[in-house]
Amino acid sequence: MILCSNPRAQYLSNKEEIDSSIQQVLSKGEFVLGENVHFFEEEFCEYIGTKHTVSVGSGTDALCLALRALGLGPGDEVIAPSHTATATIAAIAAVGATPVLVDSELSYYTIDPLAVSQAISSKTKAVIVVHIYGQPVDMDGITSVVRQNNLKLIEDCAQAIGSTYHNRRVGSIGDLGCFSFYPTKNLGALGDGGSIVTSSSSLAGQLRKLRQYGWDKNRVSQITGYNSRLDEIQAAVLRVKLKYLDRDNAKRATLAKTYERELNHLPLETVTTRQKCSHVYHLYVLGVERRNDLVAHLKSNDIVAGIHYPVPTHLMPAYVQRTRPSLCLPNAERIAKKVISLPIYPELTESDQDRVINALKDFF
Ligand SMILES: Cc1ncc(COP(=O)(O)O)c(C=O)c1O
Repeated sequence: MILCSNPRAQYLSNKEEIDSSIQQVLSKGEFVLGENVHFFEEEFCEYIGTKHTVSVGSGTDALCLALRALGLGPGDEVIAPSHTATATIAAIAAVGATPVLVDSELSYYTIDPLAVSQAISSKTKAVIVVHIYGQPVDMDGITSVVRQNNLKLIEDCAQAIGSTYHNRRVGSIGDLGCFSFYPTKNLGALGDGGSIVTSSSSLAGQLRKLRQYGWDKNRVSQITGYNSRLDEIQAAVLRVKLKYLDRDNAKRATLAKTYERELNHLPLETVTTRQKCSHVYHLYVLGVERRNDLVAHLKSNDIVAGIHYPVPTHLMPAYVQRTRPSLCLPNAERIAKKVISLPIYPELTESDQDRVINALKDFF
């Protein structure tokens, strides 16, 4: 069976180092917010290029805490793309703010800066952009809208760890960058994990309080907070994997090039790669008619294709009432109908990729 993503293969490729780092944590007996978390946060800052990293329990928590650190809640509107993982929008709703969902650019599948500017109202406080599938958003377009309107900018980098926009790592461009270390992500833990990066000392201070009951140094809650901490075992694993992240992202890019080259004569819609950016191919997606038939055909060849995502958030029952019930976002709806994700992960062998390519050729 060829899986769409394969966290087990990731673990096995670094098994000895990971096992030994876990063993060291077990022997030391310090399990939450210890030295591995401390060093991981330092190493992640250096990698992304920000002054601060605050690690937390998941990518969704990272987004919730980022919104709270900016002081956002009931009565505030936050603009975000409808075409994203549900988590982005769930986080806005979880802090009591109102998600205002907008359309994406059809050639890149990322949030459309023009749609953002048209959605701004007197209640708008922030924009969350999502570097979906590993490809950076049009950050020049977005930052100019955000600046002109005095809004805060959060980057959802859950799928784009390591990608760059004009030589800057994503996450280091907005006010705050949020990451997920869910096991299938390009930098995946062996459980849940996430982090927020920022170069603002005051936001970082606020985030450190929020992740632990709102406590100050004396364990007195100055604000209401959460319990959302990265544990030592996950931090130790992430420190091992961070060393190989650029190598692994380069392997993903090579696999993506092969798909592009081998599939370009088939009736498939490809996503345009943005100029002066690096794409880290968390997912390799295409647009296709007769998607269900293709998924079934691949399945019959023992190949698992994914669909990220079958229903745009503005049409999900949980969010339809929060947005305008009649809202129509044609690009997001078109993408959701056609998008398919092919297997891609650093350990995917050439021969397995050939099997996927041949199965696609057979289908057409
Ligand atoms: C774009 C995006 N944002 C946020 C998240 C949430 O991350 P987590 O699953 O770690 O809460 C995910 C992961 O599914 C994601 O893909």
